[in-house]
Amino acid sequence: MQNEYPQTFARFYDLIYHQVRNNVDHDFFIDEITRTKGKVLEIGVGTGRFFTEALNRGADIYGLDISPFMIQVLLSKLSPVHQPRITLQNIVDFHYDFQFDLIVAPFRVFMHILDKASQIKALNNVFRHLNTGGKFIIDLFIPDLKQLIQGLDHQTDFEGEYEAGKKVRRIVSTRPDLIKQLINVTFRIEWDEANTVRCEDWEIPMRFFFRYELEHLIERSDFKDYRIMGDYSGNELNEKSKEFIVICKR
Ligand SMILES: C[S@@+](CC[C@H](N)C(=O)[O-])C[C@H]1O[C@@H](n2cnc3c(N)ncnc32)[C@H](O)[C@@H]1O
Repeated sequence: MQNEYPQTFARFYDLIYHQVRNNVDHDFFIDEITRTKGKVLEIGVGTGRFFTEALNRGADIYGLDISPFMIQVLLSKLSPVHQPRITLQNIVDFHYDFQFDLIVAPFRVFMHILDKASQIKALNNVFRHLNTGGKFIIDLFIPDLKQLIQGLDHQTDFEGEYEAGKKVRRIVSTRPDLIKQLINVTFRIEWDEANTVRCEDWEIPMRFFFRYELEHLIERSDFKDYRIMGDYSGNELNEKSKEFIVICKR
């Protein structure tokens, strides 16, 4: 499947995203997860940026993801007793024999679902897996129309060392598709290995949403009770907002 995060991306994910994202969304999701008394599910758990800390802090948390490579990295961090908490499943049709008090899909997971039918299926599947009063939280970026249309052309947005003296770089290009409402993102990873610079490209389409489309979508799903915040501190949406933080309640 084209959308699956590939091996090289999974390999360098922690190094890149702990630096790029943790100061933005870490406290919000960790607070939501650790405040929850019952079971928690992280959809699109990835390499466990939130999962491992949440588990260490006593959360009864489960995780699913569609990328075997991302899951492989996460499993390598878990003791055998906790590994069964992680499964290879899709948000659209995942299944558990029990329900959750909180389900989160942090860091744009929902933007990987491209078509309306799958978006509704995903929302309804999540709804079915929540206890009454349970919450579902997703975050999506608000499209910056100027940047969206201009696109990015080989912009280096991360540079670091994955081992002493060995560099890794992430270079991003984007192409808009206004009819399909997609941003086609190409990630280039360049890294030093065996005295050469290796390079791998991966193109992934991300579905962008506007506010009222998002509201219509949720209202077409089984969720009736929801709110959309404009940032991770709980502020209302306004013209400076960069995020849709959607909290749906069963
Ligand atoms: C940007 S990463 C976020 C990982 C982690 N939640 C974090 O915040 O670091 C998005 C993750 O969603 C997963 N994903 C994408 N589409 C999915 C789907 N349909 N069902 C489940 N997981 C999906 C990807 O494989 C990837 O691991």
